[in-house]
Amino acid sequence: MPSTITINMNKKPIYDIRIENDFKALPEAVAGLGFEGKRAAIVSDSNVAPLYADEIKTLLEGVCSEVFVVSFEAGEKSKNMDTVTTILRQFVEHKMNRHDFVIALGGGVVGDVAGFCAAIYMRGIDVIQVPTSLLAQVDSSVGGKTGVDLDAYKNMVGAFKMPRLVYMNTATLKSLDARQFYSGMGEVMKYGLIMDASFYEWIISKMYEIHDRDADTLEEMIAHCCACKQRIVERDPHEEGDRALLNFGHTIGHAIEKAKNFELLHGECVALGCVAAAYISFKRGKLSTEEYYEIRDMFVPFKLPISIDDIDAQNIVELTRSDKKALDGGIKFILLKRVGKAYIDTSVTREEILEGVKEIEYREDNE
Ligand code: GLY
Repeated sequence: MPSTITINMNKKPIYDIRIENDFKALPEAVAGLGFEGKRAAIVSDSNVAPLYADEIKTLLEGVCSEVFVVSFEAGEKSKNMDTVTTILRQFVEHKMNRHDFVIALGGGVVGDVAGFCAAIYMRGIDVIQVPTSLLAQVDSSVGGKTGVDLDAYKNMVGAFKMPRLVYMNTATLKSLDARQFYSGMGEVMKYGLIMDASFYEWIISKMYEIHDRDADTLEEMIAHCCACKQRIVERDPHEEGDRALLNFGHTIGHAIEKAKNFELLHGECVALGCVAAAYISFKRGKLSTEEYYEIRDMFVPFKLPISIDDIDAQNIVELTRSDKKALDGGIKFILLKRVGKAYIDTSVTREEILEGVKEIEYREDNE
């Protein structure tokens, strides 16, 4: 069943998240935002544009004065300023003005890059996020974080750019390959672990329906994740406090992403980071042995890694120190008090991080 969640800030509605099972309602939603007669730039990538850009272009041509598609090569390696410059040039070539808007059609990388282009073009134009991956639907399309990497620094350049609308068509999940799909499950599990124990139990109880990508189950799961994210971003839109809880698993996860030269997917690295962070929580006496192993092992049915080979643990620790978040006044590490309750800890030491990374280093007995 399609549903809508409204994100409010200071008690005012800012944008809707529409969870739909096709794109049919998009033109009416676009018109409802007052975008009739404006130009729309659909920014997408080489994986997603061939699947959906034509359909969306055709749908919006009845509403907009011009609709054009800008596509870049899929993958984290495109998430940089060169791609941004290329896209902005196309905006200029199409005479986009301050009243025109961007449609970010794709997964997390597209949402970040296209959202950032919208944030800076002519000092900011509107953007509609149309996330097509599970990861983007449950996390990155909501909350306004946009940006690109700078050399080895992930998300180093960016802006908060609230979308005017997030429109997701859950049918797009059918076209995801298995790895991409399960990568999104890393972020789904994260919500349960940091803030909602009963949702965590629900995810586990729906394991088979999730594997089968049962439409109703996925819609319910996505709506629940968006409601979790809503609670956090309404309270702390600019990550001055609790929003950092969403970074559970990300400090070590980002370091692994970099160390592995982005060969592993973001959600896979988040899963590894969650296991390491749960281990640190366990070593601090916050989780029992049973709780730690259960958290670790529950990533396995969702085809997410819990150990990794061929890493230099010391190098991973160094990489956590050069993370954007670490440069921004020390690492705010996210630990667990229990399943469903996370907290921010600024006292996690290098040695503890090293122990956490060593725990996820591949050994015969933890695979
Ligand atoms: N993906 C984490 C956040 O939006 O804050």
